[in-house]
Amino acid sequence: MSSKTTFFIANWKMNGLPKNYKEINKVGAFLSDKYKQFKKIIVYCPPMSLLTYFSKKNTSKLLNFGAQDISVTQLDFGPQTGSVSPKMVKLGGAKFVLIGHSEKRAKGDNFDTIKKKIISANKTNLKIIFCIGESLQDYKKNNAINILKKQLSKSLVKNLNFNNLIFAYEPIWSIGTGLVPNEKYLNKIFSFLKQYLKDNYKINTAKILYGGSVSADNINNLKLISNCSGFLVGGASLKAKNFIEIIRNYYT
Ligand code: 13P
Repeated sequence: MSSKTTFFIANWKMNGLPKNYKEINKVGAFLSDKYKQFKKIIVYCPPMSLLTYFSKKNTSKLLNFGAQDISVTQLDFGPQTGSVSPKMVKLGGAKFVLIGHSEKRAKGDNFDTIKKKIISANKTNLKIIFCIGESLQDYKKNNAINILKKQLSKSLVKNLNFNNLIFAYEPIWSIGTGLVPNEKYLNKIFSFLKQYLKDNYKINTAKILYGGSVSADNINNLKLISNCSGFLVGGASLKAKNFIEIIRNYYT
């Protein structure tokens, strides 16, 4: 468990106030303690309104920051009300960016939008956390693999720097519901993804994360998924206590 690098990514979604920095600070303090020996990458993705504030306030070298979104165009700056470019999030302290999250897809991000965001994040050298996952309906119809193939093939172009790409499998029906796919199902999906990325994009060691209702209670089961490089955590990342418990349980 300890020899490979594991990602723990905190997606705060539309939550957080400046005073909540203390939650991040506690995680930084915890990491500098005895968990130092494990290879892990911790990334906080706060809302855009807090990204610069949190990243400037942070003093822990063990914490990284990411944006939850970027604008669709490749412009660094320009007349685009309400948009924040990849360059701007980088200047704000982000090394990572979430793209393709189902909550953004539900608000209109389609395959093409996602493709454009991936291309511009890649140009800016942001590390991309590319989220994919099937709906409950597709899960019930046993159609997840077809959906995943489509999400990958319609938004990935061949000449990306695949070292900067991290995949996050988040079944939509598992997000915020407390429902988690069983181990057999997850192993099937992860092994499909690994093979598909190898065959179609020559990614030999794809980094694939699991997301959806991850908690301190289920991490002991989730850590058994083969080929899983870490976790994308929503609700349970908001409080330091819960996030720390997830990391602690993962390593014990
Ligand atoms: P929850 O952990 O709250 O289910 O959210 C998962 C998620 O959407 C992370 O991106």
